[in-house]
Parts: sequence; C-alpha cells; structure tokens
Amino acid sequence: MDVKTIFSSINTFIKHLSMSGMGILMVVNIERLFSKRAKTLKTSEIRELLKVTQIPDMISFAGGLPNPNAFPVDIIHECIEKTFQNNIHQALQYGTTEGLTSLRGALADRMKKSKGIDCEYHDIIITSGAQQALSLIALCFLDPNDTYLTNVPAYLGALQAFNAYEANCESIPMNHSGIDTDALRRNIERLRRTGIHPKFIYTVPTFQNPSGETINLKQRKELLEIASEYDFLIIEDDPYSDIIFEGEKIPSIKSLDKKGRVIYISTFSKILAPGFRLGWVIASKEIREKMTLAKQATDLCANVFSQYVAYEYINGGYLDKQVEKIRKMYRIKRDIMLEALKKYLPKNVEWTVPKGGMFIWLTLPKNINAHVMFQKALTKKVAYVVGDAFYPEGGSYNTMRLNFSYSDDETIKIGIKRLAEVIREEMQTPYEKEPYAPEGV
Ligand SMILES: Cc1ncc(COP(=O)(O)O)c(C=O)c1O
Repeated sequence: MDVKTIFSSINTFIKHLSMSGMGILMVVNIERLFSKRAKTLKTSEIRELLKVTQIPDMISFAGGLPNPNAFPVDIIHECIEKTFQNNIHQALQYGTTEGLTSLRGALADRMKKSKGIDCEYHDIIITSGAQQALSLIALCFLDPNDTYLTNVPAYLGALQAFNAYEANCESIPMNHSGIDTDALRRNIERLRRTGIHPKFIYTVPTFQNPSGETINLKQRKELLEIASEYDFLIIEDDPYSDIIFEGEKIPSIKSLDKKGRVIYISTFSKILAPGFRLGWVIASKEIREKMTLAKQATDLCANVFSQYVAYEYINGGYLDKQVEKIRKMYRIKRDIMLEALKKYLPKNVEWTVPKGGMFIWLTLPKNINAHVMFQKALTKKVAYVVGDAFYPEGGSYNTMRLNFSYSDDETIKIGIKRLAEVIREEMQTPYEKEPYAPEGV
C-alpha cells in the first residue's frame, strides 16, 4: 500500500467513526466554558477592516506603523553582536519582572534629561510594550462597572485594554488645547451625583493618537488640579513626544506631578522598533509593586534579549541620533501629506496640523459618513481608519485618522489624490438612508 492509500483509508475510518456517533471528532461547546470576561471580548470591527489594507497595491494610511526604512538595522545588528559578546547567557535567561537594571538606569537618565521626570532606575518597570502597561493598569485598577475617563477621540488599544475588564468609559471632548477641562469638571460632578467616582483619566497628551493634538501646559496643570480635587489618577501615555517637528516642548504631566498621581507610560515602538516589544512605566512605589505582581502573573518578565539589545543601543549613544532621524523623516512626510490634502481635497474638508507624531485627523462635512465611504475607498485602493472607532460610544462618523509615517513620500501623494476622488464622489452621491448609521461595514 502506498502512503496516499494509507491516508485515505485512515480518513474514511475517522469519517465512519464520527458518523456512527463514536465521536472521535467530538464537537466541544467552548462558548459554555469561556469566562464572563472572555465572552465580552469582541473582534474589533476596525481591526478586521484593517486586514484588507494588506491587499496588494492598497495605499494604507490606516495602520499606526513606523516607517520600516527608519529602522536602524545595521546598528541593531551591532548591538546584537555586543549582546553576544558581553551578556549572551544572561540575555537568554529569565530576567526580573521589573526589568534589566542597566536598561532601567539608562531610561531613568533619559527621562530626567528629556522629560524632566525626577526618577531613578527603581521607579521604572519594563513592560512588554506600552500595550501591556495599559492592560496591567486595567488589571490593577478596574473592577467590572468601574468608571474611567478619557478625552476623545481616544487610542483604540487603550479602550480595548480597559473594556476587557468590563469598565465603563466616560468620554471628555477635546478642543484645540487638547482637552475641554470645563466639560471634564461638569462630567465628574454629574457622575458624583449618581455616586460614581472615576478611577483614572487616560490621556495621550502629546501628538495624540489619533488626532495629532497636544494638551497645552495650562490644561496639563489644570488636569492635575482636577485629579487632586476629585481624587483620581492620571494615566499619561506618551509614545510620541520625542517625534517633535516644531514648537516648544511642553513638560510631561508626570514632571509636574508632586504627589504620585500620574502613571507615565512610554515605549520603544515608535522611536526604535515595535518588534522589540518593550515599553516602560514610571509610577509611585505602591502602584509599581502592584503592577509588578500583575506582570509576574502575566508574563514573568519582558523579553530579556530585547532588553539587552536596547540597553546596548542607548549605551552606545545611538537613540538621540535615531530620534533626530525620525523627526526629519516624518516631518517631511507630514508636510507632503498636508500639501497633498490642500491641493486635492474640497474646501469644506478640515484637518489637524500636528506638530509631531504620526497622525492627521480629518473632518468631512457632517453629511458624509466616512464609515459608509470606506468600502468605496478600498475599491480605489486607499485606506484610512474610520473616526468613530476612536469614540467609545461611536459617533463622529464624518471623521477619519490618516497615518503619514508609514508610506513612502510619492505614495502619500498618490494616496491622498485617490482619497480626494473618493470624497468628491461621495459628496455627489446622496445617501438613500440616514448617513450616520453604519451598516455592515
Ligand atoms: C497611544 C499609544 N499607546 C500605546 C501603544 C502601544 O504601543 P506598544 O507597541 O509599545 O505596545 C500605541 C501604539 O500604537 C499607541 O499609539
């Protein structure tokens, strides 16, 4: 008997058994076994939509990806070799949950120098990306039905991390100074009248994902005052402040915090490479201890090999040069996108002009639904993220996020031209139904 015949006989036998009810291919009712928490986890419609952006010829302004040409491949190679020479046995071993002491020390120096944050190595925990820091915060602070605040539009990954812990989100609108602090006070007062005391406010204060907006210094101080008055924490998520193109650096909220009310998060993802999966948290002792326990139960420690390589990278003095390179590269890309938007888009479309970061936020006239338009954009081979994804309750269907860091310069121009064609066509197509109710997209 040849191999093919043997396999075919086995298959027939298995089919026969399962048809005769002997149940080798048992169907397990997994749904029944999932925890209540797991049952609340849903596929993000948006993440699903983003998969189509991998279609060949698609120009995608959708993902929040760094430009691969910015990755310092040769220097990383050199740092890996140094790790092999200096620490290979430790780098291949488990590490401490808090992270590599030398890397934490190097980061503490950097945080003092460039962010004005008064910290030492022991104030820092290395996490598996900033995303893990968000999950650990959720694990440590959110019980089901607890309330947190965030200025909207908000980073989708944070909403996912917090909502996985069945918390309620209270949205605070943004204005051109980053956050509407009057609305913040009003909302907190309203919540308190119903006995609700939010645990924290989550914010990306500098070159925000998704809007590109920055909270000004006055409002950062006000945010701290309000947090102190109503006794909640501030989660300052700061992946983008190094990628500054122009204007003055605004002090981080953490650097203004004298009472340990701010948990500061940052990451290597946007300034080095997301594949390292390394982020860090700076927080007060009590918070760090709890987060360390939570991290221990989650993954024991962050990738030790990456930590050694990242340490060699900082120690070699490469990070500042790399940040400078990214600033120049992304500034050019931002300008190309802004120029193309100005050249091709109709007059009644508005957009933000970010002074740093990776994103532009586009607002269409109110009667245009970017969600409905998305499928048409795909047929023209251009993609964006629909704005309503960044609002916990949906809404703002006439908005979208555009990423300018990933595509090459010429592609940005072609992509915006395509997008402009889609928008113009959409403006001439009256909707048969209410444009604000997305259906099946
Ligand atoms: C605001 C914000 N926070 C956190 C993250 C997650 O970063 P990491 O790759 O470090 O997990 C991102 C990634 O895009 C982000 O934009």
